[in-house]
Parts: sequence; C-alpha cells; structure tokens
Amino acid sequence: MPAPRSVSHARRPERRLPLGAPPRAWVLAGWALLPLRAFLGVTFLFAGLQKLANPNFFNGLSPISIKSQLIAAVRLSPIHALLSHLLPLATPIGIVIALGEVAIGLGALLGLWMRVAAIGGALLSLMLFLTVSFHAAPYYTGADIVFFFAWLPFIAAGAGSRFSLDGGLARRAAAMEGAPPPDIVTLPFAQVQRFCGQFNRGRCNAREGLLCEPGACPVLLGPRAPYATRVTIDSVDRRALVLGGATATLVAGAAVVLGGVDAVAGRVIHGTTAPTAPTQLGAGPAPSGGASPTTTTTTAGSSGGGVPGGTLLGKASQVPVGQAASFTIPSSGDPGIVVQPSSGVFDAYDAVCPHAGCTVGYYAQNQVLACPCHGSQFALSTGQVISGPAPHGLLKLNVVEGSDGNLYLK
Ligand code: FES
Repeated sequence: MPAPRSVSHARRPERRLPLGAPPRAWVLAGWALLPLRAFLGVTFLFAGLQKLANPNFFNGLSPISIKSQLIAAVRLSPIHALLSHLLPLATPIGIVIALGEVAIGLGALLGLWMRVAAIGGALLSLMLFLTVSFHAAPYYTGADIVFFFAWLPFIAAGAGSRFSLDGGLARRAAAMEGAPPPDIVTLPFAQVQRFCGQFNRGRCNAREGLLCEPGACPVLLGPRAPYATRVTIDSVDRRALVLGGATATLVAGAAVVLGGVDAVAGRVIHGTTAPTAPTQLGAGPAPSGGASPTTTTTTAGSSGGGVPGGTLLGKASQVPVGQAASFTIPSSGDPGIVVQPSSGVFDAYDAVCPHAGCTVGYYAQNQVLACPCHGSQFALSTGQVISGPAPHGLLKLNVVEGSDGNLYLK
C-alpha cells in the first residue's frame, strides 16, 4: 500500500472570503438545503424529460411548441430584439433547453458539480423569466423568478456534504492524498476562542494580532483552508476535480442515453401526428369586392342580402371544420383566434392569455385553446380556464358567417 503523500501546511497569504461567507459553507449546507436540492433536482429532471418526450414541443406548428413560446416572447419580452433572431433556431434551442434541464436536474439530485448545475439552473430560470414570465402579475405568480432565487444558495454553498457525490468525492480525494477528512463540527465560537490558546483580548496571535473572527480562524479552517481563501489549488483539490470530472462525464453520457430513450418512448406513446399551421385570415386572396379583408367595415344591413355588419375578416372556407385561424382585432391590435369546432359554428376569442400576455393557440388533439408559456388551457366553447395559472378566461368575440361566405367580427 503506497504511503500517503503529505500535504503542505505552509502558511499562505490570507485571502478574505467575499461578503464574510462562513468557512466551508458547503458543510453547513449539508442538511439545511437538502429538501430544496431534492425539489429542484426532481423538478428540472422531470421538466427536461417531459419536453423530450413530447413531440409537439419541437413542432413549430403546435401552440405548445418552443417556437410558439419564442413567437409570444418576441411580442412581450424585454429582450425581444435578441429573440427575433433566434426564431429560426427554435428546435435546436428546445433540444438544448431540454437536455440542459436533464443535466441540471441530475447534477442537483446527485449533488455532483453542484455549483455548475446551480449556475446553469439560475441562468436558465433567468432566461425564462425574461422571456415567458416577465409580465406575470403579480410578479410572484411566475415560477421562473422563484427558481432563479432558489438556485442562489447552491451557487454560494454547493451541494453540502450529505447525500452528495461532491461531498463523497472530496472525502475520497482527501483520503487518497493523506489529508484529513473535510468534515467539520459546529461549536460556539466563544468555546473555540477559549481552547485555541491564540486568542488574546479580541485579537489572534496566530494571525499576527489581526482581529479574531470565525471567517479566518486557523482552528476552524484546520490544515486546509477552503479554496476560496487560498491562492493556488493543491493536490487534494486537483484530485477531487479529476474524480468529479470523470463522474460528471459518466453521468452526462447516462443523461444523453436517458433523454434519447425518453424521446423515443414519448413518440411511441403519443404518436407523431403533426398539427397543421393556423391560417392567417386575410392572408389569402381577397374576398369578393376586392377590399382588404382585415380593414373593411360594413354597417349592419348595408350590404343587404343577409350580410351582417362588422369587420370583414376573410372567407369562412379558410377555417375548415376542426381547425383554427388567426386574425388581428382592429380595435385593440391584439391577436384573435377563431375555430370552427362543428359545421357552421365559429368560436372566436382575443388570443392574449390573461396570465402574462402570451398568445394562445388551438390544440386540436385535446380540443382546447392552450397557452405555450405556462400551460394554461381554456375551454373551446366558452373560453373559461380549465387549468393553469391564468386568473380568468379569454375574452370571447362575436364572429359570424355572412350569406356571402365571409366571416365578420361584430
Ligand atoms: S402567459 Fe402564462 S399561462 Fe399564458
């Protein structure tokens, strides 16, 4: 058995911890942050697998796709100028987000490279806040801002020493290098001052008379100060980094395999039926009379022959039974949506979601109107909320078919 290598205990220049963080905060985080770490890990892993398993998330024609979310975000987000350039890359972005969520979730659950996972989780949550939750009102009803702040303690403290691969690998690396285990126990600081022998009326003899304080206490720091207070990385940290990197590579490979199996299983279970693109009313040939269909307004009865008054939207034949079409509401400029669920019946709504303002679409598979941003669903016949965070239903519009075969918004 090889003799353990000695670790240099030579005094290095002292570096102060930013904001006075406690020494080895990751040890203190052991139990306290465990429930939050488990929740974030399960949630991000589930969210990533759910996206990968759902073919409609990657189908730009679906109202719940990543592309529909980006289109809605372009209309509302404070970073809309950036997002408009990303629309052609919607599918690759969706894949990166889904795989990123799987990796972040696994990192949190296993406590592996926790600070890296937490930075990824915080960045992803911040991006989602700026794109899809920015207009949620009140602001705390958008989950992304809460997730952003939930990741911050793990950026500061890491995974903790309990049920975490980071903690286990740190102990293993210390043992392999002959260094003492990194675990510490908590004591009242006054007791440390009493037994250390270096305490001298508020100052520390071991620190050349500097003030005595827990953040720089040689007794609490032991022979190995945290990396944050050292100038260079030593052999124990280097070994822990190599062990962590090898484990992270294995877990990343397992995550890709898991994501692939999940995606295939999702397509087998859900099928791959592609939704059709909603028609934009008025985008086709102009109705009889040659006027622009989105700007023509007729007075009730003025055209005679059963043609209703209101704003001419376009030909009813552009909205086949079981399909939807979109249009712009002249009075507000909002997007509108009209669906023909059965022959001659037209249900129309202001398509702006009452939660945070994304544009809802028609989800033909489930026969509901669905919001791509936070999943609110609305009944097709009434516009009432079926599920999701929307505080109330959609604004119903009165769209009728005239005897001339055109649709009118009254
Ligand atoms: S904008 Fe949040 S559910 Fe529609």
